[in-house]
Amino acid sequence: MELIFATNNAHKLAEVQAVLGNRFTLRTPRSCGITEEIPEEQPTLEGNALQKARYIHERTGCDCFADDTGLEVEALDGAPGVHSARYATDGHDFAANNRLLLHNLEGVENRRARFRTVIALILNGEEHLFEGVVEGHIIDRETGDEGFGYDPLFVPEGGVRTFAQMSTEEKNAVSHRARAVRRLVEYLHNLKK
Ligand code: IMP
Repeated sequence: MELIFATNNAHKLAEVQAVLGNRFTLRTPRSCGITEEIPEEQPTLEGNALQKARYIHERTGCDCFADDTGLEVEALDGAPGVHSARYATDGHDFAANNRLLLHNLEGVENRRARFRTVIALILNGEEHLFEGVVEGHIIDRETGDEGFGYDPLFVPEGGVRTFAQMSTEEKNAVSHRARAVRRLVEYLHNLKK
């Protein structure tokens, strides 16, 4: 089965392809001639995932899905949340976002946080939403070189290493995005039965 995944983030693509396995072929927007940045201007993860999936579907007519993820920090009332990509600056500056997060948590004891991913699938013109969550906490300095975004600061519940100290396989065993993707796969499999 072929699906367009509305992302040009190579890390995300690798993570999601690893969960999907080779029964699904993922295409990128770029490979369909969509080179501009896909708009995500909604106030919720659900809204953004749908906006991105609709953008691709309207231009290609193909089955597709999009994800949107937020890091929700308890002591910051759920921030950065839907603003995770542009927390510190207008661009996707991961290092600046991490610095701002550490700054805002200076002296704060409650480090509880979670990643939440929402996937919007458009299949045969119909829209479906899937969610994945991982609970954890924010440590006080960046640790590890793998992954992207807030990975060097986030330790999933029950573990001692950050996502940035894990291989793609290890991260996918527990991550928000992998959980949402597994729900998507389950749905697609049940359709075929
Ligand atoms: P997006 O809109 O789904 O790309 O996610 C928004 C922002 O959340 C990204 O720019 C990253 O900073 C962060 N993010 C999303 N997924 C992850 C992840 O798996 N690990 C760490 N940070 C992530």
